Amino acid sequence: MKLNPEQESILKGDNGRVMAMAMETVVKYGEAFGAKKLVPIKSAHLAGTFGIGPYRAYIQVLRQIVSEGLRVKVPTTVNPKPGYDLNFINRHIVFTNQQSLEQLLTAIGITPNYSCVCYEKANVPSFGDRLAWAESSAVQFANSVLGARTNRNSILIDVCCAITGFTPEFGYLLDAHRRGQILVKLNIKKMDAPALGYVLGRKVVDKVPVIEHYPFTRIELKNMGGSMAASGGVAMFHVEGLTPEAPDMKTVFDGPPMETITVTQEDLDALRIRKSEMSGIVIFGCPQMTYEETLAIAERFVNKRVEIPTWFCLAPDELTLFKAHYLYGKTLDAGITVSQDCPLAAFSMRLNRKRIITPSGKMLYYLKGVNYGTEDDCLRACGVLQ
Ligand code: F3S
Repeated sequence: MKLNPEQESILKGDNGRVMAMAMETVVKYGEAFGAKKLVPIKSAHLAGTFGIGPYRAYIQVLRQIVSEGLRVKVPTTVNPKPGYDLNFINRHIVFTNQQSLEQLLTAIGITPNYSCVCYEKANVPSFGDRLAWAESSAVQFANSVLGARTNRNSILIDVCCAITGFTPEFGYLLDAHRRGQILVKLNIKKMDAPALGYVLGRKVVDKVPVIEHYPFTRIELKNMGGSMAASGGVAMFHVEGLTPEAPDMKTVFDGPPMETITVTQEDLDALRIRKSEMSGIVIFGCPQMTYEETLAIAERFVNKRVEIPTWFCLAPDELTLFKAHYLYGKTLDAGITVSQDCPLAAFSMRLNRKRIITPSGKMLYYLKGVNYGTEDDCLRACGVLQ
């Protein structure tokens, strides 16, 4: 890899031992993927916000960074908190390092957004910006919907990029890897975007799918992408005539597609919960709910009362807006719990072993004891829709 004089000097140790180690990590990461150079980044997003025991090495690295007084070089947002104080188990057994982790993140200068939908307000990239983000759902949205450029970085790589301000140029930073690979045809009567994302992730694994035109909303793109990035290793998708790098099929593909697949209504419906399984806890918001998404769902609970525990999980800045809206009170009146944590982390340990019902394909993929339902299925489970 060819480094410029500034990068060489950091690697040599001119900015201290820890900065040199961070640069060495970034360089080795790039070399492993055949990168020829490092490029400056506009922002970073860190996924390491759960203070669990196995993150000891991560916390040790953050301590070293803080001990040399280093701070992030670019605006750097962070993923949600994990519901540390939700119950006894989370506080005393699972997330025992939470407070020290948050202190360290503050000390290196992160923006304390604590949200995986950072691209909505706290960290909004422009088309073509090069980033070093972790968090698969945010990476997916940045690449696919905003046309920014980031690989699916891991925890620690994201930190090393944030404090050096550089990332290796390979993968989704390069035009060649952003082109469509698999053409996706839809034979669907009723769209269920998270289910479509889940099915596509399983089918295309790590390729770049191009979905034939469908007028997805921004909320649907978010929830479809989050599911796809979990059930597969997908970091980017296109929708013909909708996402910025897919104005038409000819432009998005570099020649004929590798493969054409068709997703049917039966594929989507196969994921759905049966009526007899509709008991447990209903959770909306993975990826976390945005303000607009929350208002649309909250409307459906007005003057009703949930029959089983029901949670809305919003990004903190979106929750601030929601609290000022009359629907916030209505939501509480309906018996809904409103949280700003990551529900997947918060509910990873459940003493009562209650099943979760959710319209999130990401929770379905990662968590045991989860049933998937469309938004209407979830409302039926709550008892507010017949
Ligand atoms: Fe976000 Fe947590 Fe789901 S980080 S995408 S709410 S797993």
